[in-house]
Amino acid sequence: MKFTVAIDGPAAAGKGTISRQIAARFGFAHLDTGLIYRAVGAKVAEGMTPEAAAEGLVPEDLERGDLRSLEAGQAASKVAAIPAVRAALVEFQRRFARQDGGAVLDGRDIGTVICPGAEVKLFVTASPEVRAHRRWLEVGGDASQVLAEVKERDDRDMNRADAPLRPAADAVTIDTSEMTIDAAVDAACAEVLRHQRG
Ligand code: CDP
Ligand code: CDP
Repeated sequence: MKFTVAIDGPAAAGKGTISRQIAARFGFAHLDTGLIYRAVGAKVAEGMTPEAAAEGLVPEDLERGDLRSLEAGQAASKVAAIPAVRAALVEFQRRFARQDGGAVLDGRDIGTVICPGAEVKLFVTASPEVRAHRRWLEVGGDASQVLAEVKERDDRDMNRADAPLRPAADAVTIDTSEMTIDAAVDAACAEVLRHQRG
């Protein structure tokens, strides 16, 4: 059985949490594609060229412990604007999406570029202020700096020429600004069930 759920949206919208819950509930494999760009950004920070870092990426690179920081997020969004980096990562993501048993992928361009034929496409979003507050609860530090970084990354991701962040024409948008995470997960699962029943 091949079944792909594509989940896109800006930072701290709830994509990862929703994706993990969908994967657990429906028995699908899950790929956090942001981790791929974070891992490439980390290798570039260590001196590799962006192209070599993307072409040489191995699954273990996604397991390093320093990928969740704000700095790693900024480094990711910088390398993610380079077309050769994105191109080197397409096939791995597409193979993952079409594995037997179903898959959920979350990122920025899954519904638009990586899996335009996905059975379910969700665009998960929330206001910058709400998202920055959620991220601040996770990482701490200076709240106004967290908000500035979220906005800077949104801006870079939405305005790049290659695979900009935007909802696919046939995506269902879930605005989680005033939703609990449980309500957001329920809304997302309802979409999967709707498509499974045809
Ligand atoms: O993957 P993404 O960056 O889009 O977001 P996430 O890591 O799933 O969520 C960021 C944080 O916001 C997590 O701590 C979630 O539990 C929280 N969250 C929330 O409190 N309410 C929501 N409706 C969605 C996410
Ligand atoms: O968890 P959060 O939403 O903060 O970020 P992430 O999903 O880990 O993504 C980090 C960065 O990688 C994003 O700001 C994008 O620049 C880039 N990215 C991308 O370009 N395409 C994807 N499919 C996933 C992430």
